[in-house]
Order: sequence, then C-alpha cells, then structure tokens
Amino acid sequence: MLIPERFYEENQIKSIQINEKFYSKNNDVYFIKAYREGNIPWNLAVKFYKRSRYSFNKEVDLLRHLREYEVMVPDIYFTSNNLIIMEYIAGEIMLDRILSLEESEVTCSSEEVYQTINQLAQWLLSFYQAMRKWKKRLYVKEDVNLRNFIYSQGKIYGIDFENTHPGVIEADVGKLCAFLLTYTPEFTEWRCSFTEKLIRIFSKELLLDTEVVIRAMRKEITVIAHRRKTSYSMEVVNKIIDSWRRERMVYKVL
Ligand SMILES: Nc1ncnc2c1ncn2[C@@H]1O[C@H](COP(=O)(O)OP(=O)(O)O)[C@@H](O)[C@H]1O
Ligand SMILES: [Mg+2]
Repeated sequence: MLIPERFYEENQIKSIQINEKFYSKNNDVYFIKAYREGNIPWNLAVKFYKRSRYSFNKEVDLLRHLREYEVMVPDIYFTSNNLIIMEYIAGEIMLDRILSLEESEVTCSSEEVYQTINQLAQWLLSFYQAMRKWKKRLYVKEDVNLRNFIYSQGKIYGIDFENTHPGVIEADVGKLCAFLLTYTPEFTEWRCSFTEKLIRIFSKELLLDTEVVIRAMRKEITVIAHRRKTSYSMEVVNKIIDSWRRERMVYKVL
C-alpha cells in the first residue's frame, strides 16, 4: 500500500500503520492509523480504486456534495490519482448489525428493529432529497448492499457511491430487499419478517409503489442467483410476496 509523500508532508505525518484490510470486491480499502508528532493516532480509511478513473471522480464528487447537503457520509481529507483518504467511521456495518439482531432472536416487532429500519429509511431519504436538490432529478444509490452502511454511535453513515445514477427509488429498495433475503443462510423466517417490516416502514417514509419494489426485488434475486451460480426457488419468493399481498401491506401510494 503506497500513500503519496504529499499526504505525509501536508499533514505532518511521521508514520502510518495498517490496521485492517476490508472486504471489497472491486477496490482495496484499508483502515489505517497515521501518526504525527506526539504519537496520537489519526484513524483513516483509504480507498484505492481499481476500476475506472470515472468511478473515482464520481465518488469524490458525490462524497463532497452529499456532505454539503448534510447527508451523513465520511469527510474526505485527501485525494490523489486513484485514492481517497477519508474519515474512518468506527462502528458496525449494517450487515453485521442485522445478522446479530437475527442471531440474538430480537423480534421484528421490537423497537430496536423498528429503529434500525427507520434510520436506514431516513438516511436514504436524505440521500434522495440531496440528489434531487443538487441534480434536479431523482438518483438511486444503486450499491445498497448492507456493507455500504455503517452504524456508528446511534447514527447511520452511507459509503460507496461509484455506481450512483438517475433512477427510481423503488429500484434501490427492491435491491435492498433482495440482499436481505439472500444473505446466507437465505430466506430464513426472521429475515423474511424483517424484510416485510422494512417494506412497511419504507413505504410510509419514502412513498413507494410497492409493486415496483417487488418487481425490482424479483429481478435482483435472479441476478444474485446467477452470480452465485445457484438458483433460488421463485416459489419460495412468490410465497413471501403473496403473504405480503394477503396482509394488504402492498399498496400503491403514488
Ligand atoms: N470511511 C470508512 N470508514 C470505515 N469503514 C469503511 C470506510 N469506507 C469503507 N469502509 C469499509 O470498507 C468496505 C469497502 O468499502 P467500499 O467503499 O464499500 O468499497 P467497494 O466499492 O469496494 O465495496 C466497506 O464495506 C466498509 O466495511
Ligand atoms: Mg461497498
């Protein structure tokens, strides 16, 4: 891992220590500690872009603007060529948080589950509103897998904006549901009721056409199955959707 000399000079850094390499499919992302005089560590996240220059530029632009619009995203401290050095968000990725709620068998009707989902909805709402103000049209985050949200001291931060593009909110929410249902072990009873709860809360907070969410969710489940070289029974998926429909929780708002 090579941090440019300029970063050391501009910030009077004496040494850098790598603490952790994060799980990442497309890039190299690290948690590092930078030490100045006095040896007080400065916690930072470094993301090296292995894809196009375009995705790097896009992410820098997005992170800067979203912060201006007060969306909770990490602060950028330094950029060069193909890397961003940014604020390290200490906390738990949403995936771990949700899986640990499942493991400890917290019921989906609990306040804790409600708060977790509602905070996610509020973060997304702030993102959509900011994008609409900035770009004058609706954008989707696209990468809504639960590793791209960090829960830190009661707040949610969003990261990873390389694939953001114009689109409809339902596409993001459908994807989110597909991810939730297919994290291993897939389609557990708890995850199904969590997803159902999520749709209910999101429909209220984001004014969704839930039938469009369902279409996007079905499509993403097929994509995930293909990527994992497996297949998921659409019968199971349809059963889940039918039960949502029976409960009349699926309704068109717009
Ligand atoms: N600012 C940050 N603070 C803490 N952890 C981070 C930060 N940025 C990234 N990470 C961690 O690194 C992982 C990969 O980063 P991400 O930006 O999502 O890259 P990728 O495009 O490769 O998915 C995240 O899932 C998260 O665990
Ligand atoms: Mg990511």
